[in-house]
Amino acid sequence: MNSSWSNGRYDPFAGTVRIQPDEARLLREVVESYCGLRVGLDAPFFLERRVGPRLEALGMTSYRDYYHFLKYDPAGEAELVELVERLTTHETYFFRELYQLEAFRDDVLPELVERARRRKRILLWSAGCSTGEEVYTLAMILKEEPSLADFRVRVIGSDISRKVVARARQAYFGPSSFRAMDETYRKRYFQEVKGRFRLRDDVRSMCSFGQLNLMDTERFRVLGTCDAIFCRNVLMYLSPTARNRIVDGFYDALHPGGYLFLGHSESLLHVHTRFEIVQLEKDLVYRKPIEGSER
Ligand SMILES: C[S@@+](CC[C@H](N)C(=O)[O-])C[C@H]1O[C@@H](n2cnc3c(N)ncnc32)[C@H](O)[C@@H]1O
Repeated sequence: MNSSWSNGRYDPFAGTVRIQPDEARLLREVVESYCGLRVGLDAPFFLERRVGPRLEALGMTSYRDYYHFLKYDPAGEAELVELVERLTTHETYFFRELYQLEAFRDDVLPELVERARRRKRILLWSAGCSTGEEVYTLAMILKEEPSLADFRVRVIGSDISRKVVARARQAYFGPSSFRAMDETYRKRYFQEVKGRFRLRDDVRSMCSFGQLNLMDTERFRVLGTCDAIFCRNVLMYLSPTARNRIVDGFYDALHPGGYLFLGHSESLLHVHTRFEIVQLEKDLVYRKPIEGSER
């Protein structure tokens, strides 16, 4: 074996810099403490595929050099953002997990409206919103709800990635975003522009977006107190410690009686939480208790 690449150097056969187990561990630690993202130690090819081109662009020949750059260079913090950008999955589409959205509309929303009847304001938060499809799906659902006619309704979307947040704000979507959406919604709310679809301004104006690392739980309070939080298909990529911290932050960001929606393959099974479980006809969701909800 060529010793120059067994040390985490350039592999001329694979055409990439090879990562060593100790380097993978270092990268994993730095990423996990920044954003909670858990990169498998057993996934060297994943790291090499996603991060290798970045090393080459920076002219580095080992992941250890890259780690030192992340940790100690003045440009390291900006590089961490770039690294996380490469490691995250941004897959999303309109009306994802429809049964859950129906449960929200039919079972949860009437309760939230009733509870908010004095303040006449409803605030939803899509945490880890990617390119915005979840945010705009919720806005369309709220738009169709007659009981909210005289309410001030807002949907906030946040994501750690500035790139996806910028795309979400633009509100232009390609065909794959519509794979689970009823045609009538597309016709009602979107205008075709050169093979892409632009969302109507009245729905866009119900929504706002911001960059937010969910590990920065102290920043949650700038959003305002929420009636429901959707954090779907995000926590499954994070470490147990990160999940605990974030779920705790969500609890504090909700009104008493507010709801937390997770993705269908996610649960709070191993999370120490103050949320109560509510079994709806079509879904199982989490609610902040109405009584005794203050710490
Ligand atoms: C698979 S997408 C989910 C999008 C949408 N919620 C859905 O279910 O369709 C996961 C998103 O979570 C974001 N994310 C991952 N870790 C995060 C963190 N620590 N803070 C904020 N966003 C994060 C990623 O950037 C990505 O856009």
